[in-house]
Amino acid sequence: MKTDFPDTAPPISPSLTAGAGALTVRMVGTGCYVPERIMTNAEMETIVDTSEEWILTRTGISERRIARSGQATSDLAASAARQALDAAGVAAAEVDLIVTATISPDMLMPSTACFVQSQLGASAATCFDLEAACSGFLYSLEVARHLLLAGRMRTALVIGAEKLSAFTDWDDRNTCVLFGDGAGAVVLRAEPATAPARGILSSVTGSDGDLAHLLTLPGGGSRFPASGETLAGRMHYLKMTGREVFKHAVRCMAEAANGALEQCGFTVADVDWIVPHQANLRIIQAIGQRLNVPMDRFYMNLEHYGNMSAASIPVALDEAVRNEKIRPGDVVLMVAFGGGFTWGATVMRW
Ligand code: ACO
Repeated sequence: MKTDFPDTAPPISPSLTAGAGALTVRMVGTGCYVPERIMTNAEMETIVDTSEEWILTRTGISERRIARSGQATSDLAASAARQALDAAGVAAAEVDLIVTATISPDMLMPSTACFVQSQLGASAATCFDLEAACSGFLYSLEVARHLLLAGRMRTALVIGAEKLSAFTDWDDRNTCVLFGDGAGAVVLRAEPATAPARGILSSVTGSDGDLAHLLTLPGGGSRFPASGETLAGRMHYLKMTGREVFKHAVRCMAEAANGALEQCGFTVADVDWIVPHQANLRIIQAIGQRLNVPMDRFYMNLEHYGNMSAASIPVALDEAVRNEKIRPGDVVLMVAFGGGFTWGATVMRW
């Protein structure tokens, strides 16, 4: 599960590091976008056999955002990215890399990142999508960080964006109450390392494909190409064995958090804020118990947005930065779990 990547890497590109020592990678701007349309738990009662009380007590979710029919994931992503670029004071032309984490791409091909590039006019960027479900944003951060540390690129846009409402089975009360749409983005920059270390300090990622069947979106790929049968079988929607996912999510996120902290020589006592994947309040409470961390150190917004998969962490992070919960110098631990199964944890000093 652990990847023992060093905190900093030796300089490779003289143009980036002339006279400087090792590089570090910092988030220099954050942004988010959520659709205007709010769907409350009361409205859910009119769609499936559920109750406001069941949804709130079993998940902690009160409402979620739903994108317009003409809006695609890249539209949400580009709005979040523009905000992040503004916050960073970075022009789109300076972006060398765009990684979009998503399980709800505009199309199977081309990548959503390429559509984002076009909307932003970031013509110099190399663009691709990364699919690791709810862990996608942390996986993407890790990939982008190492491309920057390799010295070949200086500025990256990492985006988590989802229009899950397009892949939600609105007849299935087990899943439709959980998900929402939105996008979050960060601008990463390679900079000379400082002491004390700032930016991303450590990261672990892991996967367990033996449990892939517990969380799937089965139709429309090469295993089950779109057909009358896949449509009739509702195979183009998310399927989840919730109880099993819950159990593994708690264990894997707690272990990943400890692994990332250990890698940079910290303990939970050093952490100012934990920004977890926002799937279920009870999962976050169980992680708090395992890590022995009080709930007021978790930044949460799932009450208002539900589970936005890869977008959950960057949206929460942007909110926490904008409302000055996260302040310069704070140690932030981000931790995620999702389909695959996949998981990850990242520690950074803001
Ligand atoms: N309203 C009313 N009743 C419901 C609803 C609903 N919306 N949904 C399920 N129920 C019922 C079930 O049918 C079941 O009834 P039964 O006992 O008669 O069969 C009962 O409630 C309890 O069901 P459980 O599955 O045990 O409920 P649980 O407490 O586990 O909560 C939940 C379900 C919210 C899905 C939870 O298991 C969960 O959060 N799982 C993890 C989700 C997650 O973390 N996903 C991560 C990644 S998502 C991604 O990668 C895209």
